[in-house]
Amino acid sequence: MRPGDAAGLPVADRFGRRIHDLRVSVTDRCNFRCTYCMPREVFGPGFRFLPRAELLTFEEITRLVALLIPEGVRKVRLTGGEPLLRRDLDRLVAQLAGLEGIDDLTLTTNGSLLERHAAPLAAAGLRRITVSLDSLDDAVFARLNDVAVPVATVLAGIAAAERAGLAPIKVNMVVRRGVNEESILPMARHFRERGHILRFIEYMDVGTTNGWRLDEVVPMEEIVARIDAELPLEPVPAAYLGEVAGRFRYRDGSGEIGVIASVTRPFCGDCTRLRLTAEGELYTCLFGGTGHDLRGPLRAGEDDAALRARVRAIWAAREDRYSELRAAGVATGPRVEMSQIGG
Ligand code: GTP
Ligand code: 5AD
Ligand code: SF4
Ligand code: SF4
Repeated sequence: MRPGDAAGLPVADRFGRRIHDLRVSVTDRCNFRCTYCMPREVFGPGFRFLPRAELLTFEEITRLVALLIPEGVRKVRLTGGEPLLRRDLDRLVAQLAGLEGIDDLTLTTNGSLLERHAAPLAAAGLRRITVSLDSLDDAVFARLNDVAVPVATVLAGIAAAERAGLAPIKVNMVVRRGVNEESILPMARHFRERGHILRFIEYMDVGTTNGWRLDEVVPMEEIVARIDAELPLEPVPAAYLGEVAGRFRYRDGSGEIGVIASVTRPFCGDCTRLRLTAEGELYTCLFGGTGHDLRGPLRAGEDDAALRARVRAIWAAREDRYSELRAAGVATGPRVEMSQIGG
């Protein structure tokens, strides 16, 4: 089946960007309450998460992913909330791994449940994994995630992923001024020795509940300078078009790090990502205000061609560049929450 435009390329949006990645959130629930994502004051016992019937089934997700392959999707990342809270996730992974045309199938997790899930996920066809971890210090970690999960549990999950053959393993660390900057170097040293790719993420103003302030952002330049002073670094070209992380390698050849600088160095110009929420809404930006419902038409019996045309029209009309607008001081709200859209 031919993709979007007359030249046989995936459809271009208003700025000439084409679909390549799809991030699929499989649940809006999480067992952590990271202050920058699901602050407990908002996501407390009274918070209404999606009931099961409103979640896309694995079959519905697989159908949508399959019909987006001819529209350009080559890379699929499962997210949440915490994706490993979704029961039998390895069944979904097996279905997606069986689709021809997906070159990269991966998942972003908080790692707390990874120790027992790593082997079944790898057996189902998951190739690599990204684990979020904001500090190696239990007290600092707890201040960020607001739960009592020891760092050792996440490290055991990472070790299990390694044993299961998931590679490369990436580790995401959100850096928040005054909370975990002192963890930057210990994290760099730890993961350098183990050959995992640590990525530092500038704290972002996703959603409307985290009370984001610019002065809590530790800029990429400062993160790199802190590490470079002790472990000399040099920049490396991007691994692929649209890679969100700026890459640096240790000059002694002992590995690399990444920095995701959406605040100080926006990368909207290369943005090739679509996002699907657990209830089947398509977003064209992490900072989107409204999604486009696909579950309704899907459950009403719309056929693949019509669903594809719907997505093409959504992408063609896209003019998102939130991070660039934020940098220019003209960003707007309201914005979807991180736990709904999965990063
Ligand atoms: P790789 O495929 O390994 O390069 O991973 P990734 O960086 O695309 O995905 P991951 O889930 O590890 O996301 C890392 C961070 O980048 C998260 O904080 C995401 O929210 C953020 N991120 C990913 N895509 C975008 C994007 O399009 N815009 C912005 N502003 N941030 C993004
Ligand atoms: N700013 C930056 N990164 C965030 N993440 C969650 N919330 C934020 C935020 N406000 C990260 C998670 C995970 C990734 C998908 O996004 O830690 O690693
Ligand atoms: Fe959960 Fe990840 Fe959000 Fe933390 S950042 S609350 S682990 S979904
Ligand atoms: Fe893409 Fe929106 Fe992120 Fe810009 S802010 S890179 S448009 S998802």
